[in-house]
Amino acid sequence: MKLATDLAGSFTANPNYLQIRARINFLIDRYLSIPTLSGHIADLPSQFTNPHQRPWEPIDWQAISPDQIIGVDPEMFAMIVAGATEIEAPIRQYSQESWGYMQALHPQMAYFMGGEQHPDGSLKKAGIWEKEERQHAPAFSKIYYHLTGSKIQPKPNTVLGYQPSDDTMADLYQHTVSRISTEWGAVSVYLWLMAHSTGALQQAIAQPLQDEVNHLSKFWGFSRWAFPTPFWQQCNDVSKYLFDIIRHQKQERTHGQDLIQKSIAADELVHGIEVIFVFTRIIVRFREWQPELSNSFLHHLLGSELALAA
Ligand SMILES: [Fe+2]
Ligand SMILES: [Fe+2]
Repeated sequence: MKLATDLAGSFTANPNYLQIRARINFLIDRYLSIPTLSGHIADLPSQFTNPHQRPWEPIDWQAISPDQIIGVDPEMFAMIVAGATEIEAPIRQYSQESWGYMQALHPQMAYFMGGEQHPDGSLKKAGIWEKEERQHAPAFSKIYYHLTGSKIQPKPNTVLGYQPSDDTMADLYQHTVSRISTEWGAVSVYLWLMAHSTGALQQAIAQPLQDEVNHLSKFWGFSRWAFPTPFWQQCNDVSKYLFDIIRHQKQERTHGQDLIQKSIAADELVHGIEVIFVFTRIIVRFREWQPELSNSFLHHLLGSELALAA
């Protein structure tokens, strides 16, 4: 008998936990291979001189249907898609925040994130990060619509905005860790969604997923270049930040009345374990990637030092 395959390797209609893990590993090898990660960061100098968006493969929206969800309650899958939509907004404020923290220290990176601003803070030209990110929320709300037949009314997150202290370097480190955390979280969740889907649904999620891997690689490389923080300490800082976000969201969820009330606690635990598995598999892959990020390679990409240190 010939086994069916999709972007996550072998496909079965009712995968068990181990089969889902195998699909996660397959996806990590496909989208987070060492050459892929290095390619994303090697793209930085050409982004600075000639900004360009990562092209998306066409998505067959009409072909997306709930029967392409596998190994998870479809209602829960849709709830996570709705959560992804909310987390992606408001991108303009996010990129303005990044621009604020970066422009004095690494103007090219600030440009990549937040583009160019008028003196009053309004947008002159959007950065590539912002252009790529602003496709995500609409894509996820479209996916949600094709899965459920209803539209989400996303409640965008509140953004603190640029709040400098008198330690510009510490501010930049904190900010970079926060951006890495959200990209890491997005990669983990989107990869999990891909492990639990097939067909047009899975192909649609593959587009934002690849953008997030691209961003995560770039920000990670930037942080390895800019700060002397040891690898494991940085992983620790990133995880702490991410768990704070999750805790905050869980609190909001318990206060909210609009989310599903049915008892899916046991399922939620299994899927929580799967997402943590994805998260740690990415750490392992990034550890394997570190030898590629030599000082000379990073200097070639990003310059010799931060503007402040010069
Ligand atoms: Fe995104
Ligand atoms: Fe991203």
